[in-house]
Parts: sequence; C-alpha cells; structure tokens
Amino acid sequence: MIKAVRGTRDLLPPETALWNVVEAAVRDVFRAYNFQEIRTPIFEATELFARGVGEETDIVAKEMYTWEDRGGTLSNKFGELLDLVDLARQNPASTPTLDTVKLFNEYLGPGKWKGQSLTLRPENTAGVVRAYIEHQLWDRGLNKLYYIGPQFRRERPQKGRYRQFYQIGAEVIGPASAGSERPIRDAEVLEMLDTLLRRLGIADFTLYINSVGDAGDRAAYNDALRKALQPVVGQMCTDCQRRAVTNPLRVFDCKVPEDQPIIATLPLISSYLGDQSKEHFQSVQALLKEAGVAFEVNPRLVRGLDYYTRTAFEFTHGALGAQNAILGGGRYDGLAELLGSPQPAPGIGFAIGEDRLVMALHARASETAPSVDAYIAPVGEGMNRKALRLAGDLRREGLVVELGDRSFRLKKMFEAATKAGAKYILIVGENEVKADAFAVKNLATGKQVSVARGELARRIRGE
Ligand code: HAM
Repeated sequence: MIKAVRGTRDLLPPETALWNVVEAAVRDVFRAYNFQEIRTPIFEATELFARGVGEETDIVAKEMYTWEDRGGTLSNKFGELLDLVDLARQNPASTPTLDTVKLFNEYLGPGKWKGQSLTLRPENTAGVVRAYIEHQLWDRGLNKLYYIGPQFRRERPQKGRYRQFYQIGAEVIGPASAGSERPIRDAEVLEMLDTLLRRLGIADFTLYINSVGDAGDRAAYNDALRKALQPVVGQMCTDCQRRAVTNPLRVFDCKVPEDQPIIATLPLISSYLGDQSKEHFQSVQALLKEAGVAFEVNPRLVRGLDYYTRTAFEFTHGALGAQNAILGGGRYDGLAELLGSPQPAPGIGFAIGEDRLVMALHARASETAPSVDAYIAPVGEGMNRKALRLAGDLRREGLVVELGDRSFRLKKMFEAATKAGAKYILIVGENEVKADAFAVKNLATGKQVSVARGELARRIRGE
C-alpha cells in the first residue's frame, strides 16, 4: 500500500468542513480590516529564503525541501548547439572552430546546464515581499495582504507539527510615507488577531510580545551576546558554537537541554534597545491597552527567523501541548531592502498555524458537520431521468440534495439516506410523476406526506 508521506496527511470530511468554517471567518474578519488576498507560488528560488529568513536559522539550515531544477536534457542542448554551429558556418566572417569552441562553452561548458536551486516555501513572508518588489507595489501605498496555503518544513513530525502544514498569514507593507512603520499598524494587526480568535470561540490563548530592536540595537546586542558566549560556548552544542560566531541571536533557538541553563544567563535584548525602539514598543503597548487587547511582555521572545525588527509576538494556546504556538509574527523593517527593494518598505505580519487552530477548535467539529436536506429515490423504469431533473431543480433552489439510483432497492435507499444524514427522502415513481406530487418522508419522525412539485423546496426547507 502506498501511504501519504511521513509528516503529510489527508484532510477528510467532515473535518474539512471545520477548515472551511475557519477560512470563511478569516476572510470575513480580514475583509473588515481591508486586507486583500495574495497568492504566491509554492516554490521559489532557494536564495529568497536563504537571504530573507536567514542562513543560520533552523528553517534554512535544516528544514527546507530544496532541489536542483533540471536545466534541460542533453539531447535538446545538443540540438541547440548544432543549430548554432550551423549558423556559424553560414557566417562567412566567422572562424568556425573558434566560434564552435565559444558556443560549446556558452552552452555546454561547466555548470551551464545545471538547473536552478529551488525550494518549497517554508513560509510566505519572503514570497510576499518578493512579489511586493517585483510588482512595485509601493505605488499602491500601504499594502494589506493575506494568504492561506501550504508551507513545507522538514521537521520531526509530532502532534501539531507536520512537514506540509497550512498557514493563514497577513502582511502590512509599504513605504514609510504610507505609515507602514507606525505603531498603530502593529496594534491593528494584533487587535485583528484577538478579534479573529474570539470570533472562532477560542478564549484560552495568551499573546506574548517583545521588541527585538532595530538594526542598530541588534548589532550592539549581538556584540554583547558574543562576549557573553565566549567563556561558556565551549560547553555548548556544536550548533551553538557555530551560531556564536555567525549569528549569536540564533543561540536562543537551541533545544539541547544541557545548553538551556547557559542560555538563561545570557543578556536580554531589552537592555540594548535604543530610544526609538523603546518608544515604538511603548506606543504599541499603550495602543493595545486602549483597544482592550490583553498581552504579556516576554523579554525572552526573539522568534526563529532573522528578519524581525522591533515588535515580535506569539499567541499560545493552552490545549495544544508542546507545539502550543498557534501563531507568530512581527515587524520586518529591513527585509525588503535585503531582498533588493530600491526603497525601504517597513512591514509587519503574522502567520497562524491553521492545523493548530483547527486542533484548538476540534471540540466544535460536530456543529459543522454538513447535512443533506433531501435524498431523492427513483423507483422504477425511466425514473432516474426524472429524479436527476428534480434533484437539479431543488439544488438550484439552494437545497443540498443526494440522489439514489433506480437499480437500488427502496430499503437500500432508505439506509443510504439515513447514512447521509438526510432530513427527508423523496420518492420518485411513475405515479408521483403522473400526479406531479411526490411522497416526502421525514426520516426523523417517519411521517410521510404527498407534496406538489411547486411546493417541494419550501416544504423541505421547513417553511
Ligand atoms: P513561524 O513562527 O515560523 O512564522 O510560523 C508561524 C506559525 O506556523 C507557527 O506559530 C505555527 O503555528 C505554524 N507552524 C510552523 N511550523 C509548523 C509545522 N511544522 N507544523 C504545523 N504548524 C507549523 C512564520 O512563518 C512567519 N512567516 C510569520 C510572519 C509573517 N512574520 C511576519 N509575517
């Protein structure tokens, strides 16, 4: 038997109904905040994530699905080469041998038909910022974009952690002149998340926020971390020994239990925040209080991606166990420039782990199990045609209709109707068609009545 690959899974009904409930609420709430949807490709150039997310992050260093895309087949490269040799021959001014060598090098030389390195997206922020730059979205002022879709990380699968998982994310990005840097944007995004979770009936969550400083603060902090690590790093894991040199902030991602007591003694970013970062952070907090959004400051929160500046945040949920981060996000004021934007584009965003959000909602699954209004049972020769037409008519009236087959016995159709959760079964036989009135049986009460065709939809709807 061929099974779904480890860390991936099939989402089956009725659970998919719950995913749809979540996504419908998301679209509704995000719309009220004037977000619009963006869809970026599922794979991108590897370099985008290496530069955007950061070489030393776990995501880029260990978890990406990366491959070298094929550069074309040898036979069609030969074809191209032969055409070009032909062309060189026809050109009387050229020296065939030299041109051939040149062309050979150009087309078949070392590395020439090697493919491009591509990666399944491990997250969507880098893709959105790439699209922002590629389509010069700064012309639109402040962009408020959201996405829903699969992401891929080669993590060790466990409850709430998959290799293909789904994120619901949003990004607010634009030129500083459009206000993209202002604390009100941070507060608005956090208030929207608070609203969304409550709307979904999730109450048992905590919002943790921190400031990870701007580029200047981070440089000073990294120096301080390097100094603090110097005398102790020899006792730490090899990853940390490397991080201490290349990107000391990433030491906080270490999961090795023996390293944790050392990590707990390291200086905190809060001691290295400059006045501007402090002020920004204070304003965000004041706005959140004003908006009635509860939060806790967690000075140890640094997040696992390199692009964050200033506000960083996470929402955790009590019932989720070890993988309790239901969503995470923050500001990324330098990311656009890092990815080649000709002008700065401060931004802030988040991604919700949709798998985890649905897990948190699981208790409500039965509420959303879809039901069938009527099961149509054709009985007798030629009745399939009539039943199909009647089903079409009722479906166009907005009813959910399931259809039997005249080769089934009536008993089997009653069983199928019950299994499908149908409220009514509707018999389509020769007599019914002649009378243009149908036997409608309520499957819960067992009561059966004859209903004229024109009345069917209203009757089934219970009007
Ligand atoms: P992240 O913290 O890497 O941030 O992921 C966001 C959320 O995705 C996590 O809080 C978690 O709920 C979910 N998640 C991550 N990995 C897995 C997994 N293997 N299985 C299930 N769920 C997972 C980002 O991805 C940033 N792009 C967020 C962001 C947007 N920051 C600014 N804008």
